[in-house]
Amino acid sequence: MKAEQNHLITRIGAGTPCGAVLRSYWQPVALVDEFNPVLDPRMAQRPLKALRVMGQDLVLFRDEKGQWGLLDRDCPHRGADLSFGRHEGDGLRCPFHGWKFDARGVCLETPAEPTGSKLCERVKQRSYPVLEKSGVLFGWFGEPGTVPPPFPEFDCFAAPATHSFAFKGLWRANWLQAFEVGIDPAHPSFLHRFLNDEALVAIGDNAAGKQFRSASAGDADGERWPMTRIMREFHQPEISFEAVPWGLQLTALRPMTDELTHVRITNAIFPHTFVIPLSETLTITQMHLPVDDENTYWFSIFTSFDGPVDKEAMRQQRLQYIQLPDYVPRSGRHNHWGFNPDEQRRQTFLGMGEDDINVHDQWAVESMGPIQDRTREHLGTSDKVIMANRRLLLKAIETVQAGGTAPGVADPALAAKMRGPDTVDGIAPAGAWPTWWREQMQKKRAGAPWHPLPDPQSEGERHEAPEPALAPSPLGRSLG
Ligand code: FES
Ligand SMILES: [Fe+2]
Repeated sequence: MKAEQNHLITRIGAGTPCGAVLRSYWQPVALVDEFNPVLDPRMAQRPLKALRVMGQDLVLFRDEKGQWGLLDRDCPHRGADLSFGRHEGDGLRCPFHGWKFDARGVCLETPAEPTGSKLCERVKQRSYPVLEKSGVLFGWFGEPGTVPPPFPEFDCFAAPATHSFAFKGLWRANWLQAFEVGIDPAHPSFLHRFLNDEALVAIGDNAAGKQFRSASAGDADGERWPMTRIMREFHQPEISFEAVPWGLQLTALRPMTDELTHVRITNAIFPHTFVIPLSETLTITQMHLPVDDENTYWFSIFTSFDGPVDKEAMRQQRLQYIQLPDYVPRSGRHNHWGFNPDEQRRQTFLGMGEDDINVHDQWAVESMGPIQDRTREHLGTSDKVIMANRRLLLKAIETVQAGGTAPGVADPALAAKMRGPDTVDGIAPAGAWPTWWREQMQKKRAGAPWHPLPDPQSEGERHEAPEPALAPSPLGRSLG
């Protein structure tokens, strides 16, 4: 890739071509939990946070009526930082000269001005629409005067609060490399490889990092297989993808025997969200919000298709690795992400622990440097999803530059198709995997107490045949 192209697809500040694409979508800006006084005692007095989103400095606050205000942070008077403002219930007052703004950015008072001054009527602080969905606050940063798109009806947003849990974490690197790690179907066989197997983690154990310790759906000759064993023993997935209205549906096949194949269906929702299975009944929807060009917050929504989630337990597990109030990981470049060469020899492929696989991805994302130099990389067959996504992104930049609509931005017709998306991880009959996984999904959806709507992409559509395997591993051969 040429340097200019790499620059084009990574820089997202206001006024950049890629930034214009990202500003076509609702963006996750904060967790509702960040305003919970139990988790952040400062919020009892002053429910307000300074935010940075796509290189823009903002202030987010909740007024006494419960309305969210998301405003530019620089006071329109002379530019002082409104995140130090006085939270007065019905608005935010700049401490410099006392100008006051409500949640919509309307100027309420300019108290230093002479009585009768009309200055206030001529001033408006820029504000951004905010929506609360599944424990996440979304902001919309489109051009002033334009209307935000309808919100998609993906499962993670349709599930009731009892069946979803949201969390986030900071990665010190560019948003695109964060997303490119997430949509890469080849990496779990290596980056997340455990050299030894353990007892299967029970369904419903949502421990962070136990993702690949739970079983794949289905069985091989009556035996349940942990995902980690399949990932380890069959490390050359046949990867294919299908363009869908909101991005790419990804298929990774790992043929196990003549009769059985492991199938993993995941999704890349344009521009920066992936949806993957965590277990037979849980999915993770992970979005990657650019803080600026060199920092990214991932926001994950865990969605249960079975019983309610134990939010408190899920939060406590993750707080072992990520610190409040800013959701900064305890490990990072400063401590070599916890790297242990002895563990690398004996236990894990990477050597950064078994309990928190999130740090594995963090290492992959951050160790490339703040913005990956894509002029120096060498992509292979197993990177075809990465290439396809870059093509989508380049095309989207071109389209938006020419005044068109970014892909997957929901107009009313498209919004109805923005459901699901389906995910599966299971052992299927080799010849019948395309119908097998859809049956699995239908069962999962039918069993969910909150009646998720079907994914229109999965209804009656067929996958194109994937490219032939490079060299399938024989069943049972250990690569560890
Ligand atoms: S800079 Fe904010 S009131 Fe003067
Ligand atoms: Fe990963």
